Amino acid sequence: MSTYDEQDVKAHWEARYGERERVFSGRVNPWLAEVAGSLSPGRALDLGCGEGADAVWLAENGWHVVGVDISETALQRAAEEVAERDLCDRTDFVQMNLSKDFPEGTFDLVSAQFLQSMVQLDRERIFAASARAVAPGGVLIIVDHGAAPPWANLTHDHEFPTVEGVLAQIDLDPVQWETLRAAPVERNAVGPDGQQAVLIDNLIVLRRRADG
Ligand SMILES: C[S@@+](CC[C@H](N)C(=O)[O-])C[C@H]1O[C@@H](n2cnc3c(N)ncnc32)[C@H](O)[C@@H]1O
Repeated sequence: MSTYDEQDVKAHWEARYGERERVFSGRVNPWLAEVAGSLSPGRALDLGCGEGADAVWLAENGWHVVGVDISETALQRAAEEVAERDLCDRTDFVQMNLSKDFPEGTFDLVSAQFLQSMVQLDRERIFAASARAVAPGGVLIIVDHGAAPPWANLTHDHEFPTVEGVLAQIDLDPVQWETLRAAPVERNAVGPDGQQAVLIDNLIVLRRRADG
């Protein structure tokens, strides 16, 4: 990927976040809350953390979180959210292009919530690095939009990932990994103008075996 392309990707997301004072709901993603809520808190990595709602929830629930995003605007908002809640000692935010770089170290929970993009994003590379970053006994959760929300107004055909496609991309050894969830799931949601809809998410939860 050339420097020009990278600047383009960053500019895309800065423009997206610049459209409004807050782009996302500020609420934790429900599948993350369900999955992480059943785990003992440890170190978590939030990939494409956006405005920090998941990082806030994780920190409030005892996790130490590293949140990574390409957008400085989003990270600034995330930092303000954790500061308001006095959670700075449990959270670190890092600006990084995950298509090129990946945080060092291992984590008890690695989360990619809707890490999807209309511009270049090397998900195959990111998911491979994500799996390597999961500590023994730790969990990798990937949640994708499996279909467009009715309010998305897509102007062109967009191919959404499938559960099978993502699992094939990650291609983890079942001797080392246990599949806890891997299926499309429905979620009730409210759109930006208050519209109600049932959305399809692809939920993948994988645990690295303690001796894996
Ligand atoms: C659809 S948003 C999801 C945000 C958040 N996880 C959520 O569920 O609300 C995708 C996020 O990924 C980030 N992102 C996109 N491409 C990226 C890249 N190459 N490296 C790091 N972050 C990226 C965007 O800035 C954005 O915050």
